[in-house]
Amino acid sequence: MKTVIISNRLPVKIIEENNEYTLIPSEGGLATGLGDVYKSGNSIWIGWPGIEVPEERKEEVTQKLAALNLYPVYLTQNEINLYYEGFSNEVLWPVFHYLVTYAHYEQSYWDCYRSVNEKFAKSAMQVLNRRDKIWIQDYQLLLLPGILREKLPNATIGFFQHIPFPSYEIFRLIPWREELLNGLIGADLIGFHTYDDVRHFISTTTRLLPVNSSSNILSSNERQIVVEAFPMGIDFDKFSDLTATERVQQEIDYFRTGKEDMKVILSIDRLDYSKGILERLKALELLLQLHPEYIGKIELFMIVVPSRDTVPQYSELRDQIDQFVGNLNARYRSMNWIPVNYFYRSFSIEVLSALYSTADICLVTPMRDGMNLVSKEYVASRNNNDGVLILSEMAGASKELTDAIIVNPNNIGDIMEAIVTALKMSPSEQQMRMKAMRAIVQKFNVKHWVNNFILRLNEVKDSQKSLLTKHAVNAINEVIVTKYAQTQDRVLFLDYDGTLVDFTGNIDDASPDAELYDLIENLTLDKANKVVIISGRRNETLEKWFGHLKVDLIAEHGAWQKSFEDKWNSLPLLTDQWKQEIKTLLETYTDRTPGSFIEEKSYSLVWHYRKAEEGLGELRANEIISHMKILAADKGLQLMPGNKVIEFKNMEVNKGKAALNWLYDKNPDFILALGDDHTDEDIFRALPDDAFTIKVGNNISEAKYYLNDFNEVRKLLWSLVKEAFVGRS
Ligand code: UDP
Ligand code: G6P
Repeated sequence: MKTVIISNRLPVKIIEENNEYTLIPSEGGLATGLGDVYKSGNSIWIGWPGIEVPEERKEEVTQKLAALNLYPVYLTQNEINLYYEGFSNEVLWPVFHYLVTYAHYEQSYWDCYRSVNEKFAKSAMQVLNRRDKIWIQDYQLLLLPGILREKLPNATIGFFQHIPFPSYEIFRLIPWREELLNGLIGADLIGFHTYDDVRHFISTTTRLLPVNSSSNILSSNERQIVVEAFPMGIDFDKFSDLTATERVQQEIDYFRTGKEDMKVILSIDRLDYSKGILERLKALELLLQLHPEYIGKIELFMIVVPSRDTVPQYSELRDQIDQFVGNLNARYRSMNWIPVNYFYRSFSIEVLSALYSTADICLVTPMRDGMNLVSKEYVASRNNNDGVLILSEMAGASKELTDAIIVNPNNIGDIMEAIVTALKMSPSEQQMRMKAMRAIVQKFNVKHWVNNFILRLNEVKDSQKSLLTKHAVNAINEVIVTKYAQTQDRVLFLDYDGTLVDFTGNIDDASPDAELYDLIENLTLDKANKVVIISGRRNETLEKWFGHLKVDLIAEHGAWQKSFEDKWNSLPLLTDQWKQEIKTLLETYTDRTPGSFIEEKSYSLVWHYRKAEEGLGELRANEIISHMKILAADKGLQLMPGNKVIEFKNMEVNKGKAALNWLYDKNPDFILALGDDHTDEDIFRALPDDAFTIKVGNNISEAKYYLNDFNEVRKLLWSLVKEAFVGRS
């Protein structure tokens, strides 16, 4: 069993010089972060080697990569243009970084994104074994989990996104939003760097797709999908140990000679408009203007690693940086000093280590960044616990590195002030802050990140399996139907809304359909069956819908009962004196919540919010609970949250008591109870151990089994009808 990592880019890329192919490390957080760990386990990595490889040289490249356990997906120039530069970097990248005006929603980009995701799936299928773990990385492959899930329904699939997940308001702008989310939820575990990303993803998914969420678990069809934050770390020891190596010491001597008294500010990024490079330069300019005492005393070392410069916005940004730096240097430089040492190239890790370990300040001010590993690499390289990190609050890393000087990257004045504070910071304060940050970066390193993710993926898979054993569909033939066939005195307690029929916005629209009547009539044809419809509905409603059938009815959660040959009886000693006062209070909420309404029953009041704006209804429901629970208890009322409702009812009334009441004096040999709501939990709890209790919906319940929805309920009941028919004939 191996782990198969799949990402757009492999951790190495090919460069061509004099018709020779050489492999060099790829840049960017994903490749540098995971690039070493994958070597230590039983893993292979599938991805693109970074350039278009002509047909006749593919074998040579494949061989070279195979020696490193890497498996190539070759992209044509057209795919590079449309899938990589186009959809990935001109739609998803800007939108996910909140720069929606940079997005180009081209149909051809989308078509190619889909087909390249299929292409990755095809390559993966060639190397995947049945028990392998699949770990897909990042926004270029959002559809891949779904495609692989279709091909391998039982596979273990994890997905991690290295960039932010935007809020619903931003994500919903994308024309292909549902398809993207459907692709993603093919995974079993979906990871992001921060809890904010998790929140955004869950709220987006539950608004755009027919999936439910219960805290950080999404339920879609047969599966539960866990969404969690795994803040990515770095190889702390590697960066910490590197600084003492001879190569790095040589680089340090070379770099620092002649700059002994200079305060060096370091900035390292890929070329990207999300990194706030221009804003950083503006802050330096402001500093030189307002604090001329620092002229000649500070230098910015700014490394910009070439990236995606075939995408227009990136090449424009490069030109702007060139211009700005040229202008600033020309205005402020002297014969032996320039404010900005600007490099547009990448460097070896030894040079980076020399810069990290000697720069007095590291200035990391992205406008938005999933994590930002540069800030962590700086911290890990500070073995003497000195140096100051200035960090944007928009970087995921700011959630962990709270001892950095945190700035808003849009506030140039704020960045400038932070540089001044850093320049003046006492050694003891530097030590205190750096020690705290190093402890965090050391503990939450990249191995910890990988282990945590894989461990959680295993757990998710295990809990899916145990849930599957509770899925009543799997138990129907073996257990429920067999017992049904062997028994002569059966009772079936059936909840109505959400169990026998689906929910509707308008409660009166949920009347029984012809198939449901047919089903219930068939169940009642069998003399061994007693069917009890047990609902929170009014007795008048149940009478109208089911009064003509051979079923017993329990209405208002037990306040009213009727056996089919009898009249309605209400529970003795119930009072409705409280209703007017509670109703007046509930009306104040209805007046403030469009779409909500109050339903009045003889012994209860229900506040409905199914048609209220998503989120607002829940907010008001929580307000009602916290404002009215004491009043309700004083009046002997129970306040019950349900499916988009809150119900106030007499404490003595509950479905569990009603079911036990009904069973008094009877001794059935088969009991089945089906329900979807909080109120049905009382029945599940009250019934004897050998009863078949089935929750509709797969959230936590006292029931022994669960079914996904009313369709599965009907299928189960039909299979009982058929069993009886087969048994009789
Ligand atoms: N990096 C690199 N070569 C360089 C400069 C930087 O490989 O010349 C690496 C750097 O060490 C870091 C990564 O690029 O690990 C950048 O990751 P980060 O998370 O900061 O940003 P991303 O590029 O992923 O947006
Ligand atoms: C970020 C993304 C990675 C990407 C890297 C470099 O870190 O999250 O998925 O690989 O940037 O970008 P590139 O487009 O060169 O792969």
